[in-house]
Amino acid sequence: MRLGVNIDHVATLRQARQAAYPSPLEAAALCEKAGADGITLHLRHDRRHIQDADLMALRSAVNIPINLEMANTAEMVAIALEARPDEVCLVPETAAEVTTEGGLDAVRQFDALKPTIARLKEAGMVISLFIEPAVEQLDAAVALGAPVVELHTGTYSTSTGAKQLEELARLVAAARHGHGIGLQINAGHGLNTENLPPFLAAVPHLDTLNIGHSIVARAVMVGMVEAVREIKALMPS
Ligand code: PXP
Repeated sequence: MRLGVNIDHVATLRQARQAAYPSPLEAAALCEKAGADGITLHLRHDRRHIQDADLMALRSAVNIPINLEMANTAEMVAIALEARPDEVCLVPETAAEVTTEGGLDAVRQFDALKPTIARLKEAGMVISLFIEPAVEQLDAAVALGAPVVELHTGTYSTSTGAKQLEELARLVAAARHGHGIGLQINAGHGLNTENLPPFLAAVPHLDTLNIGHSIVARAVMVGMVEAVREIKALMPS
């Protein structure tokens, strides 16, 4: 199983002071050294953490695949076509949110997503859709020609007790259905060393996990290399 480390919050720390450090690029290189399989970053419309220059320079900092999370806007499509990440994960984005809230509605936004996916695929990028674990969203991803979905684990990660078990069951069913219709199954949002083991024990067919906040938070205490290694040690190889 692969780990994509999301480096957004290294940039959050930098932007808090509008300083030159800490460098998300240096962090990305340490993630690679620690065994990360990819680097994920979200260029948001408001540029609250990752900046355009980070994305453009990342290719020279690491040799592992780059996954750009972005909203489906003309501005972001143009940037992706220039930056040429290996993978683009289309996410919903609203200005007021603290972090991505919920998955993309691939059913209702079908017509808007279709040309973007076609364009980015034609340019050689692998397209992933960040969606809720729901059958209709998975079916829409296939109909849109997206080969990969990232199941939103935010609700699982922030809930407890019966609600968490219910959400885990939804994730299991979605992973099975998605795998059955030929999708690559990724997952992410809110995963950490505590909620990851039960998640991994239950959810089948996982290819890649994208994890950011908990790794960067842990890196403040033990360093980036150790923080990445701790998560990797919980994942099957
Ligand atoms: N995957 C997607 C699509 C996301 O939007 C995010 C947050 O930027 C993550 C994964 C990582 O989530 P977290 O930082 O909570 O680990």
